[in-house]
Amino acid sequence: MVTGAAGFIGSHLAHALVQAGAVVIGVDRRDPATDRTAAANLSVLRGLPGYMHVTADLLSCAIDPLLVDANAVFHLAGIPGVRPSWGPRFGEYVASNVLATHRVMDAVTRMGVPRLVAASSSSVYGPTDGGASVETDRPQPASPYAVTKLAEEQLCLAHSTQAHCPTSVVALRYFTVYGPRQRPDMFTHRALTAALTGQPLRLYGDGHQRRDFTYIDDAVAATIAAGTLPTASGVINVGGGSSASLLDVINIANSLAGREIQVHQENPRSGDVLTTRANPGRAHEVLGWQPQVDIHNGMRAHMQALAAESAAYGRAA
Ligand code: NAD
Ligand code: UGA
Repeated sequence: MVTGAAGFIGSHLAHALVQAGAVVIGVDRRDPATDRTAAANLSVLRGLPGYMHVTADLLSCAIDPLLVDANAVFHLAGIPGVRPSWGPRFGEYVASNVLATHRVMDAVTRMGVPRLVAASSSSVYGPTDGGASVETDRPQPASPYAVTKLAEEQLCLAHSTQAHCPTSVVALRYFTVYGPRQRPDMFTHRALTAALTGQPLRLYGDGHQRRDFTYIDDAVAATIAAGTLPTASGVINVGGGSSASLLDVINIANSLAGREIQVHQENPRSGDVLTTRANPGRAHEVLGWQPQVDIHNGMRAHMQALAAESAAYGRAA
């Protein structure tokens, strides 16, 4: 089962699992019949015999029947995004990231599912001195979102340590994932869209923030390894190994598009950290995983996908 299957990472993961021969049930509360983003994300899965989609909210739906014979749950459903979590939507973050996760863990425990992979976040580390974060570092979440992701991963691990729980948990701390179908609120999507369309880009701060950008196919490969390797458990960083600043991303977008993005600088946003960087040792050791796609090739693929989408949209309009 893949939760959050109508989302960015979940739809890529479900597709890769089906292509590898798995039978997948995807669950998401966004209905592809009425939600254009969900429909677009799920279009690669439409009609594939190994895929069944269920529109349901994990806060209220009956989860057990979806788990009959499941050998892994990939729990990607959640409310993402650092900056909006300070606002009135915080209740939704708590509901989907913490309360729904508690329901999912109760269900996998009852149904005897052997493995659950939870989507945690690099944001749990909070501010760093610029060095690489190791899974044993003390988390210092700097935003309400990051607090819910830390609660989510620790909740999953707490369930799994109960004597009667048959489920081993791997919580993956993804570092800023980008690539085709990335959420439109994220920076890489916005920079590439600005480069393609000529519309201005809003830059929060001076652009010296650095991220360990992770290409979607690499994130998916790590996630599948976490769900299928018999010995994996605990918390694991998934960082793309491409440390780049926002100014680097703008420069790459400019050179891919052959035009200069117009940048409008604004104040830095609350809860944003200056640098994220993953220590990759545990992912390599436990998952046998290392990233394959650097930021230049990843952004090229991301831009090609955005250009193809806008051409298809132009044809449809
Ligand atoms: P996304 O918003 O594209 O996908 C999340 C999906 O979860 C959405 O389709 C949403 O409808 C669904 N969902 C939310 N609450 C639900 C509920 N109660 N019941 C059923 N479905 C529900 O986000 P994404 O970027 O694909 O992120 C997926 C996960 O990975 C999230 O948990 C996010 O916190 C985590 N994460 C993402 C990144 C990143 O860079 N994208 C980095 C770190 C962690
Ligand atoms: C991303 C995801 O959005 C989170 O869901 C995820 O948990 C997190 O990665 C993670 O790695 O754990 P973030 O790193 O903030 O969070 O990624 P973006 O939303 O792409 O923002 C990156 C930087 O660009 C931030 O400094 C942000 O302030 C800046 N930004 C973003 C802008 O300057 N302008 C924009 O229009 C958008």
